[in-house]
Amino acid sequence: MKKDLLSLLDLGKEDFETLFTRAIQLKERYSKGIFDKILAGKTLGLIFDKKSTRTRVAFETAMIQLGGHPIYMSTQDTQISRNEPARDTARVLSRYIDCLAMRTFDHLLVQEFADNSSIPVINALTDSFHPCQILSDIMTIIEHKGGYKDMKVAWVGDGNNVANSWINAASVLGFELILACPDDYSINPDIIEKADVKEGGNIAFTNDPIDAVKNADVVYTDVWASMGDEDELARRIASFNGFQVNRQLLSFAKEDVLVLHCLPAHKGEEISEEVLEDKNAAFWDQAENKRHMHKAILESLILNNYSQF
Ligand code: CP
Ligand code: NVA
Repeated sequence: MKKDLLSLLDLGKEDFETLFTRAIQLKERYSKGIFDKILAGKTLGLIFDKKSTRTRVAFETAMIQLGGHPIYMSTQDTQISRNEPARDTARVLSRYIDCLAMRTFDHLLVQEFADNSSIPVINALTDSFHPCQILSDIMTIIEHKGGYKDMKVAWVGDGNNVANSWINAASVLGFELILACPDDYSINPDIIEKADVKEGGNIAFTNDPIDAVKNADVVYTDVWASMGDEDELARRIASFNGFQVNRQLLSFAKEDVLVLHCLPAHKGEEISEEVLEDKNAAFWDQAENKRHMHKAILESLILNNYSQF
């Protein structure tokens, strides 16, 4: 049976481990000039309804380097923009391509495509989740810190799609995660309930950024206004006062704290310029690792070769 990757709750612990191991292996092999053409003859479709630099290019290059072929479709250039139902589009695309990566607003649309496709569907970001991003980010933590299990990860910022995927990852993998969000922009209770977060467990919530970053091994932030929220930026800048990740805030974290950001970054808002250029920051590794992680995801879903997945 085909599998989809719509949220990190679709994965078990072993699936995560398999993907980390395989992505790191594929990265090493690529660096030695070994090209694994394991997806020769396969086609990935990408339907993107929101802007993207990293995710799109990482998926396209991943597919090409594995011997396959990507086809990028902006929603406005397809019949979707003229109201062809998702159910019909999904059934048609299933006759042409071997896997579909989608970036859109409403998570239910990706779910509808998955329900009506006979091919695997990957969530390349919705308003609710960004699962492939967090897989690449934990891979980056493993590379820099030797593992993720004993890490304290602090989220500072908006209770958004990236934060939601961090909650899902921590609920499956069990590492310590604390999220500091302003009261008006806290995590949707539905996300907390679906991830089965228990009070007193490994996932905690606060509205105090200093409290969150105390002794943190990893500090993560993201934009204050995600795609679709841009009109609210002025109001959000006021609400996020005190939530900027800067040297002063990081002084409460461990000295060797790893600073992560999915990018794009808005310097002077959620992150200071000096931290963006800091030696403890691993943003460019995160961005690169998306390509290697996407390869592992594409291989597992298209070849359906991980029994647990
Ligand atoms: N991090 C990330 O998803 O970047 P893009 O929006 O450029 O794809
Ligand atoms: N939260 C951001 C992530 C961008 C990669 C957004 O949805 O715009």
